[in-house]
Order: sequence, then structure tokens, then C-alpha cells
Amino acid sequence: MLLPKVLTLFLLALHQLCFVNAFTDYLLKKCHQSGFCHRNREYSGNIAKSFNHYYSLNEDSLKYSEAENVLHGIVEKLIPSKNADDITINLPFTLRFMQEGTSVRFTIDEERAPTENLPDYISLRRYNETSKWAFDEHAPLSADFASVKKGHSWFRSDKVTFLNKAGTLKIEILRKSFLLNIYYNGRLSLVINDRSFLNIEHLRSKEENFKNLLPEESSFNMFKDSFEYSKDDTLPFGPESIAVDFTFKNYENLYGIPEHADSLRLRDTSEDEPYRLFNVDVFEYTVKSTSPMYGSIPFMLATNPRSSVGLFWVNAADTWIDIKYDRHDSKTHWISESGIVDVVLFFGDTPADILEAYTELTGRSVLPSLASIGYHQCRWNYNDELDVLTVDSEMDRAHIPYDYIWLDLEYTDEKKFFTWNPSAFPDPERLLGRLKRLGRQLVILIDPHIKTGYEISKAIIERGAAVRDPLQGTFFGECWPGTSVWIDTFSRNAQILWSSFLKTLVSATNLHIWNDMNEPSIFSGPETTAPKDLLHEGGFEERSVHNVYGLTVHETTYHSMKEIFSGEDLRPFILTRAFFAGSQRTAATWTGDNVANWNYLGISIPMCLSNNIVGMPFIGADIAGFSGDPEPELLIRWYQAGLWYPFFRGHAHIDTKRREPYLLEEPVKSLVRDAIQLRYSLLPTLYTAFQKTSTSGVPIMKPMFFEKPNFCQLYGVDDQFYIGDTGILVKPVVEKGITQVEFLLAPGIYYDLFTLEPFITSYEEPEKYSVAADLGKIPALLEGGHIIVKRDNYRRSAKLLRNDPFTLVIAPNRNADAVGEIYVDDGETFAYQRGIYLKSVFQLKNGKIITCVPEHVPPNQEFVGTTTINRINVALDGNDVSIKDTVNITQGAECRIATVTKKRPNTAIIENVQLRFNESWTINF
Ligand code: NOJ
Repeated sequence: MLLPKVLTLFLLALHQLCFVNAFTDYLLKKCHQSGFCHRNREYSGNIAKSFNHYYSLNEDSLKYSEAENVLHGIVEKLIPSKNADDITINLPFTLRFMQEGTSVRFTIDEERAPTENLPDYISLRRYNETSKWAFDEHAPLSADFASVKKGHSWFRSDKVTFLNKAGTLKIEILRKSFLLNIYYNGRLSLVINDRSFLNIEHLRSKEENFKNLLPEESSFNMFKDSFEYSKDDTLPFGPESIAVDFTFKNYENLYGIPEHADSLRLRDTSEDEPYRLFNVDVFEYTVKSTSPMYGSIPFMLATNPRSSVGLFWVNAADTWIDIKYDRHDSKTHWISESGIVDVVLFFGDTPADILEAYTELTGRSVLPSLASIGYHQCRWNYNDELDVLTVDSEMDRAHIPYDYIWLDLEYTDEKKFFTWNPSAFPDPERLLGRLKRLGRQLVILIDPHIKTGYEISKAIIERGAAVRDPLQGTFFGECWPGTSVWIDTFSRNAQILWSSFLKTLVSATNLHIWNDMNEPSIFSGPETTAPKDLLHEGGFEERSVHNVYGLTVHETTYHSMKEIFSGEDLRPFILTRAFFAGSQRTAATWTGDNVANWNYLGISIPMCLSNNIVGMPFIGADIAGFSGDPEPELLIRWYQAGLWYPFFRGHAHIDTKRREPYLLEEPVKSLVRDAIQLRYSLLPTLYTAFQKTSTSGVPIMKPMFFEKPNFCQLYGVDDQFYIGDTGILVKPVVEKGITQVEFLLAPGIYYDLFTLEPFITSYEEPEKYSVAADLGKIPALLEGGHIIVKRDNYRRSAKLLRNDPFTLVIAPNRNADAVGEIYVDDGETFAYQRGIYLKSVFQLKNGKIITCVPEHVPPNQEFVGTTTINRINVALDGNDVSIKDTVNITQGAECRIATVTKKRPNTAIIENVQLRFNESWTINF
């Protein structure tokens, strides 16, 4: 089963020493080397020429279940034979509307007859439980089916038609070719099986294979794998891939399907490698590539100025996606190695509608603690307790705020997770106690591979909680500690065990967990990961569940930590490297092992944007590059860009020079400190954005097309972005030697975020706008029409800011209007879920009056920190606001006058206003 020992050791050495060598692409399959990708590309190419179709909907099989609101039927695959009878394969099909009729789900499975060739511990049925992991437990799965025509008359035509209740969606199924047209608001938006690429490789024996092939099919690697690093795959089912094509009608831009180190707008792959979704460990991955990475979210978004469509391919197997932009349409071809066809389609007017529906289904990003959106200081490794405490105090001495300090692999006793190195960390509770005094948190690494030969791995093996080899024995592979076993967190048994390990390790409530290497990374495995014929709970092969494994690990960790923290009701923080659709519910992630060079800084922006538009916004990249030593300019620019990542962490490889911000030479140190302090001053605005995403899915790093879907010119822009709904627009410097950046702006007024100097664009079309960007300058604007909230004081951590007053920054639009909001809660517990939070809306109307209206106040005015606003900055030029030397303030029965200073030519500052946003008030100019 294992790769030959020499090769294993070679790969192991390569992985550990590859500090100088970038990740080697040859370890990963290309499409032509992957049996099922190769076959499906060939099949589609041949079908495109032959125009044949072999799949049809059996009209007699159709049944509409009123109880479930689901249409059931059989799709027949017909394999013609010259000399014998044709073969018909029955493929059960379901179709339903969901989410009040705004989304459509369809599935295609296979009826498999029992076969003697398969051991009884391997599940015969195709894996159909990906949705169980991906969907939120509260998701509304069954909406009223349509105003379906009752009775059976409508089955008796070549076309079967369904409508949703609201009449916004119409689905037509052409029975003979099994082609589905979906109309949204009367327009044909999506065609399923448009090009007849539907292909379900049904179960057959090797001996009978020749009878089961369609003329257009290739039999390449159906029963073996010829790829050098995975040739031991036993492929017990032979070929079992599924593939479907989808044409997005009148959509010229596709996005999503992370994780890839590539542009935000997906590229045409017809002359290239398809995008691949397959969770793998890709140290120093290649930039600008469709190669797979650590995480997989099989969700795609198509958008045009009129409407948007989302496509969620609910399948966790190795998956390839081909894209062809064809005049005004986008044609896609989805190919997975196994599992069932399970697809959810979302239709709406804007990208935001789609994301809202998608995150209703898969869950929304959990509201993180306030501290966890502060700065994280990490390194592989902090050597011992003294090292940690020194970093802690030096950050304070240098006035650099931070909240989380991290311990990588080496804190353990010889890489045995759930232990501490006794000489370096003799008293972890003492360390945690010291950190806690300033409200600081510690994160430790716990990977799913467990070294053999100590009590934790023994318990995993004894309790049958390990991932198994194809013969049902415990699987052993190589990772950091040497020979290891892997926890099978698909099983309840393993989840309980994992939880018990964490319970023995943690009692302090400022300890959090980092699940790394959970693709899983296996140095001795094919393509750096698990052999596909390993077995998981229920007798399912790794092949079918691979991409969701990492989610089972971090979700188990999260639930365990939540239970451990339940006494104090605290929110755990979990970072995961591998992710899948639904991971956002319980973890943050990052873009993995990047390199300290400008290309990786640049690509981090579209990578983070991609995750943000598929519902997993809590993401960042290692600052300032994981491996290599960044030059000073890069380091500054990376902090200035990274401060906008939703997850803001400095991290470095064990072989790099120490680069904690306080160690840097001047002026680098001050510029990095300014960037981190800026993040802290904007925490109120960021936390409000996080709260919004946790209730509506709206991205935190938001691409231009998402904010301004009306302007096609912005659809390809992926180097500038908005922060949530706040109006903050950033274009980080990601190239060396740059002193000027050029924004592309939709019509409106924009102000420099720091000086409030205005810029007004034309009324019609997007326009370019240059801003100076010397080393000390972070190119960031505030769009007119917005109000943001910040804090001006420096404090050492997020928690210590709790009682400091707020400042409002008002950026009027052309009509001299602006709006913004603030959300606050205790920042650390789940009390907000019981209504203990405060949300208020600020408005500027006609340049004459500012109002504050609390939308939600906690019952009994329970304490959520200070609510005092001390200062209001109003941008003046370029709009119709004119403020005199005083303004009138009304709060409750109290009226008073406040003086206005016009510090800079374009800003009015109303100081010492002493207003609280848990009450209503007005300011009249
Ligand atoms: C791989 C992770 O990507 C990296 O961040 C970490 O430092 C190393 N594993 C060591 O644990």
C-alpha cells in the first residue's frame, strides 16, 4: 500500500528541506494523467463532434412526492450494442425547489447491484453525504415545490415544465436528451447538460468493461492508476466518475471555486489545465495556476449587471472544472471522481442575493471574538516560555498592539500532539495565566496525524478511531513525527475521543487551536496526501470524502472547544488549513505556505477575495511571506496590505530570520507599527462588518464587481476591494518601487481615508484616479455616502480598548447624505445570541442633520463596553455640507451647543461631543 520506502524518504526529505526549492508541480497529476479527468475530457471532445446523447428521462418513472416536495424519476443511460442487447443503467433522479423557491437542487445517483468483487466492509452505495457536512443544520432544505401541474398528464410530452411558487423560476426538462433549461424572471439563465457531457460511469467488472463503454468513451486508467506516485491505488470500483456540463446563458464572468493561486475572475481553461479541487499540501505553491491547493469550495458565481447565478457542486471527491467563455455565454464542465451528482443552483438579481442564499444553506461565518480580528503574532517556532513572554513584552514596549501569540509544532514533546515539551514549556497554565492578564490569547497547533507509540495514538487505534487501509487495518503513514495514524473524525466515536484529548489538554480559556496539515498532508502518500483507497467511517473510500476531511477535523475541534469553554460561554478560535463548503461555520483559514516575494503578496488579494465571495471570509495570508526573508520594502507593504485581510497574522518558517515587528530597523518598524495600529483603530468598523457577514454572508473583503455589479468595466478588477459595506476602498501596493497607485472608481465622491481630501468622478462611467503611495502611505479611500466608526487611542490589545471612546467619520455623497452603523457586544461570549448586543444606525441627511438611532439595545441595557462618541469628523469639500462654527446637539431632553473646528481645509471636527450610541440623538448644523 505504501509507496516504496526510498521514494517515501525522498519525498519526506523534499518536504522538509524544500525551503529553497519551490513546491514541485510534478507531484500533482495533470488532467491527462488523472484517469477520470482524462476520460471525461476525451468523452466531451468526442460527444461535441458526434452530437450523440445516451441519457434520457424515463417518463413512466416520474413521481411527485407532495409530502417531501420532491420530484423523483429515473434517468436512463443507454449503451447501444451491435451484437447483443443494449444495456440500460438506471440512475435515480430527484429535483426540488429550496429556500422559498429561490434555489433548485437536483441529484443523480446510481442503482448498484451487489457485486462479489467488493469486500463487505466497503460501502457499495455511492457516497451521498457531502451535504450532511456542507449544509448548515438549520438550512431550509425543502421549499414548497412549485405550482406543479397535478396529475400525470404533464409527464406525457417531450418537455416537462415546473414553476416555483413565486413564478420567478421555470425549469424545463427535455426528456429525450435529458437537458434542463432554467429561466429566471423569464430569461433563460442556465442550461444543464447543454452539451450532453453528462457522464455517470456505472459499476461494471473489468471483464465486462468492453460491453459497458459508449463509443465516445476512452477506457484510460479505468481499473488502474498509471501515475507514478499513485500507482498503488486499488480502485475497487473501477471507473465511477460523474460529470455534467452547465452553460450560464448571457454571463461572461465566472468567479469562485477556491482555492487557487489565480486571478479572481476565472480563466478560460479550454487550452489549459482545468481548475482542480483536491485538498493538498502545496508548500510554496505556484502562483497563477489552476492547480489544487489546501482547500476546496465547489461553489461558482456567474454575474452580469442584470442578474446572478450560483452553482454549488455538492461533492467532496477529486474534482476538475473546465471553463470556456463562448461569446456571451460561459460554458462549464464539472467532473468528479466518485460520489453522486448533487447540485444546488441559486438565482437572484445581484451577487449579494446569491451569497445570502448560499450562506443560508451552508451556514455563515461564525462571529469571531473581537480579539481574534486583532493582530496575531506567529512563528515556527517560539522556542520556550521565556521566548513567548519576551515577544509579549517587547511588543508592548514598542507600542505594537497584538492579541494572539502562536505556538507552532515544536511546543510539543517530540511532535506528539496533546503533549507539551517539558523543558521548554514546563508549566503551560502559568504561561496562559500570564498572557491572560492583558487579555491575550495563545494558539497551539494540533494536527490530525498522531505519532505512533504513545497513549493518544494507542487510544485511537484501540478504539477503532483511525483512518483505515484498504484491507480494514489501521493506516500508517509518514508526517512530521514520523510514522503516524490519522484520526477519522467522520465517526462519532473519533469525535468523542478527540474531544476527550482536548479536555485533558486545556483548562485555560485563552487557549485556542490551529488545525494544520488536515488535507490531510501525508509525506509518504500520493500527491502529498492520503491514498484514495483508504477507508473511513461507514466503509466509504477516501476517494469520495477527501475534500471534506479537513472540515470534519476542525469542526470536531471547534465543538470540543466550545464545550470546554461552555462554563464561561466563550467563543473558541480555530484556524484550519484545509477547508470545504461549510467550513466558515467554525473556522478561519489562511492561504498556506507562501513565499516572501512580491508575487505572493499580489496573489494574496484575489485569493482572499475568492474566499470572501464564497462565504468563507475569515482568511488572510502569512505576512510577510512564510518562507524566505522579506526585504524591508516588501515587509512594509505586506503589513500595509495585510491589515485589511480579515485574518491578520504575521508568520514565518523555522529557517527564516526573526522578524517580529519590534525587531525591525527604523523606519520599517514605525511603518509596520502604524499599519497594525491602523487595524486596531478600525476594529469597531471591522467587527461590525464581521457581524454583518455572520448574518447575511456579505464579504468582508469585497470585490469591485460585487459592490458595483452595474459596471462591466469593474468585473476584471481584483487588486482593489471594499471592506464589507463600510465604503472603505483599498488598493494595496503589491509591487516594488511604487509611489503612485491608480484606482478604478465607479461614479461618485471618494475621500482619502486619512486626510478626507475629496475626489469626484464623472456621473457616467468608471474613472481612473491616481493617489500618491510613498512608503508611508496606505492607499485607501472612503466612498461618499458612508459613515465609519473608529477609535483613536493606542492600547496594547483589543480588550483594553473596551472603555475608550469612539470617533465617527462622515463621508457625504453628492446629495450630502451618508449612512453607517455600529455593532458592539462583549466581544468574547455567546451572550449576543441571547440579544445582549447593541446596534445603532448613524445618518447624515441633506448635509444638515446627523442622527443616531439605536436599532437594538440589550435588555436591561446590559453592559457591552463604552458607547461614548467623543469626536465627529465630517468631510466637507465636494458635497453640499456646510457647517458653521457651532452645532446644536439634542440627546433626550438635553440640548447643547458644541463648537466646530475646521482643522484641515476639507474637514470639520466636532470635538468633545460626549454622545452615547445606545441612545437616540441629533446634531443640527
Ligand atoms: C505547515 C503550515 O502551513 C505552516 O504554517 C506551519 O508553520 C508548518 N506546517 C509547521 O507546523
